[in-house]
Amino acid sequence: MQLIDGRAIAALMKKEIAEEVLQIRLEGGKIPHLAAVLVGHNGGSETYVANKVRTCEELGFKSSLTRYEDDVTEDELLDCVERMNRDEDIDGFIVQLPLPQHVSEQKIIEAIDYRKDVDGFHPVNVGRMSIGLPCFVSATPAGILELLKRYEIETKGKHCVVLGRSNIVGKPMAMLMMQKTYPGDCTVTVCHSRSENLKDMCSRADIIIVALGVPEFLKADMVKEGAVVIDVGTTRMPSSASKSGYKLTGDVKFDEVSPKCSYITPVPFGVGPMTILSLMRNTLLAAKKSIYS
Ligand code: GUN
Repeated sequence: MQLIDGRAIAALMKKEIAEEVLQIRLEGGKIPHLAAVLVGHNGGSETYVANKVRTCEELGFKSSLTRYEDDVTEDELLDCVERMNRDEDIDGFIVQLPLPQHVSEQKIIEAIDYRKDVDGFHPVNVGRMSIGLPCFVSATPAGILELLKRYEIETKGKHCVVLGRSNIVGKPMAMLMMQKTYPGDCTVTVCHSRSENLKDMCSRADIIIVALGVPEFLKADMVKEGAVVIDVGTTRMPSSASKSGYKLTGDVKFDEVSPKCSYITPVPFGVGPMTILSLMRNTLLAAKKSIYS
């Protein structure tokens, strides 16, 4: 069993991106600028956004954060998106999800200029991704592809089971794993909370990507000997053992599943660290106008 070290690969990517930004700076080019919009005081969102801003600083990017309270109106947020669309210094921006109930997330996402949609959530990016055209690929699936690539994990012709059908992870992941590329070229099965015979499906998979948000859902008797297991789960479980008062728990029962795997990602420090770096790479691509000019 080989542990997929997301922290190490993320550190490597970080170095590569920082070097490129330094080169841009030396040549007097456009310094990448990522803007973030954060609504309310959700603990998870606060942490994610703080990490994104900190990573920008470490990479030499410019970053800016715009905050709103929970009672912000949809129109105010749409105005904010419009301002960011027009701001020529901002290369890419994200509106951290989830948003309060009274705001339509879809409406906000569709208001973002797809050329600045470094989250890859806009239908133009999702559509282009699904037909294999250059686009911003959403960060978690892009991070997983990067891990498969850097560990040179074989994917061609393999049976990949994706557990979960969210717009952010499950759906794009399934789409990417079936593309005629590496990593990809898989036979993909998507399972979700309503799937029957889930255990049978998983038992036949060469690669399992679990993105359900159900702690320790995937058990040893659902996994074939030699399978590759990618765990996207990050549920905060109360814990007295850590300073923060919680412990990140994956969707895989790691202790019993890992001995059966050829490769597996741990939680934390598997997929997690890759997600932010993928967002940063998208921002760099946006600054360089590599995808859309
Ligand atoms: N909420 C959870 N994950 C994400 C993400 O990747 N981007 C944004 N904008 N919000 C999220």
